[in-house]
Amino acid sequence: MSEERQIPPPRFQLGDPRWLLELRYLPWPADWAACFGRNGPLHVELGFGDGSFLAALARRMPEANCVGVERALEPTRWALKRLHREGLENVRLVLGDAFAALAFLFQPGSIDGLYINFPDPWPKARHHHRRLLTPTFLQLAAHRLRPGGTLLIATDDADYALWIAEALERTPGFQSAFGEPWVHALPDREPTRYERKALAAGRTCFYFIWRRVGPVPCPSLPHMMRPEETMPHRIWQGMPELSQVVAALRGRIWQDGGTIWRVKELYRSIEGEGLLIELLMAEGQWVETVALRFQPHGHESWILKPAEIGGLRPTEALKMGVRAVASAIEEATPGLRILSSTI
Ligand SMILES: C[S@@+](CC[C@H](N)C(=O)[O-])C[C@H]1O[C@@H](n2cnc3c(N)ncnc32)[C@H](O)[C@@H]1O
Repeated sequence: MSEERQIPPPRFQLGDPRWLLELRYLPWPADWAACFGRNGPLHVELGFGDGSFLAALARRMPEANCVGVERALEPTRWALKRLHREGLENVRLVLGDAFAALAFLFQPGSIDGLYINFPDPWPKARHHHRRLLTPTFLQLAAHRLRPGGTLLIATDDADYALWIAEALERTPGFQSAFGEPWVHALPDREPTRYERKALAAGRTCFYFIWRRVGPVPCPSLPHMMRPEETMPHRIWQGMPELSQVVAALRGRIWQDGGTIWRVKELYRSIEGEGLLIELLMAEGQWVETVALRFQPHGHESWILKPAEIGGLRPTEALKMGVRAVASAIEEATPGLRILSSTI
């Protein structure tokens, strides 16, 4: 007698490639039509939390390509389970920073709807610089929205609402969909997890819907948010004295406006000659540590280049950091002659 066995459905995987994408491994800008396998209006939610709002968007607009960006892993896990459970095919989740995602992944004028629900308000004045909704961010949002596209923001923090209203008023190319900056209720809205808690606690919510109208200039972006075409490097003819290079680099700090580069740690190669330079880059709320290699490169020549560790992508800040380290190496080794350089 043969026993009929049911094959269990495939288990849910966090890294299910159907839904989860990583900011640093996507092309900049991303080819969303290729990611979704079709063209469609692009709707983007930043800081999607448990994903309930994003899932509702995707259900309501099956023709739309819906992208969510979240930097925290735990909510991303919840959202992935939700998408898996509901079998929603028109959603992609990007793990990464919302500002960086907006800057790197989306072409100017490409987004139909941009949604930011209950962004962290950072109520203390000394933490205001960590707020997502800065004037530069809002300019970038306007620049990435298509003409006529809408920005929706919801918050339950009155102080943040005033800050957002003032910043929106000053952003060229935005106009409120209402006669006033915000309204306190939006009909037919799927409340988010955070919103349900705020409403249950009796807090007032502020809803902004602003349209992109007219031309929008490209904002001046932070160095860490400006993509570069190629990886920066420099090659020299000559033989550096490594102890002098180490002395020149140890603990070095460079600053350019609000951007700081600091040599965190230096490692000598065990196998041969060469250094690994751990370089911290910081600008506003963004901090990134990258690794650079300084090593022999053919006959009596040396190269400085980013190490292939952690899927590093080229940005203007990285190029500037490599340039600063290269200058310090040159100061420590006057005989070096540049053979090739992209910095
Ligand atoms: C207060 S929660 C709101 C979550 C959800 N939108 C809701 O309304 O329930 C803020 C969310 O934004 C995410 N977040 C904050 N800053 C972010 C950033 N720079 N990039 C991506 N996600 C961010 C947090 O991880 C968190 O999930």
